[in-house]
Amino acid sequence: MSPSRQALSADASHWDKRYQEGADGWELEQPAPPLAQLLRSHPLAPQAPGRVLVPGCGRGHEVALLEELGFSTIGLDFSGAALREARRLHGEARDTLQWLQADLFDRQALEAAGLTPGGLSGIVEHTCFCAIDPGLREDYIATACRLLTPGGWLLGLFWCHRQPGGPPWGSDPELVEAQLRQPGPPPSPDEIESC
Ligand SMILES: C[S@@+](CC[C@H](N)C(=O)[O-])C[C@H]1O[C@@H](n2cnc3c(N)ncnc32)[C@H](O)[C@@H]1O
Repeated sequence: MSPSRQALSADASHWDKRYQEGADGWELEQPAPPLAQLLRSHPLAPQAPGRVLVPGCGRGHEVALLEELGFSTIGLDFSGAALREARRLHGEARDTLQWLQADLFDRQALEAAGLTPGGLSGIVEHTCFCAIDPGLREDYIATACRLLTPGGWLLGLFWCHRQPGGPPWGSDPELVEAQLRQPGPPPSPDEIESC
């Protein structure tokens, strides 16, 4: 990871502290209802099987739902405290579920854990995009583009507000849509071959 990215992203201890102190006002104790409803019953919902990543998964509620729906699921978070909670609530890793403690922007760590270019069918986003420094959003999108297979999908519930400061860092729906519509670089043939 480049030093500038590291400076923006190196705050796992901030999140650990928030989990340990119960300063986790985002916690819903269930998958976010709009995402759950869409995944369970919308006619356009992505269909299992497939390999799906939940970045910044926290306590892993969306991860557990995706596994229940038949996806092979990876819950990634750089907070050890979050992943301890996720394991306590949803169990240890198994064939259909992987917990990965890593920084989303640490490409080497992701590849070492099997998250190679083009290797994912889908990504489910819930309150990770608003948790990262806005200066890293382009990196988030580039990471998603790199990891998704051609034709892969990103399903997200985006936190939008216009207050200064964060996290949660604000945005607005038009901006998020414009950012996500930018064509990402497709994986090179070499990258696909190495998966
Ligand atoms: C607001 S919490 C949301 C947790 C979970 N998605 C939920 O909705 O309950 C944001 C999560 O993103 C994680 N996170 C933030 N930046 C990250 C990064 N660069 N790499 C991995 N995880 C990150 C934090 O540790 C935290 O668990």
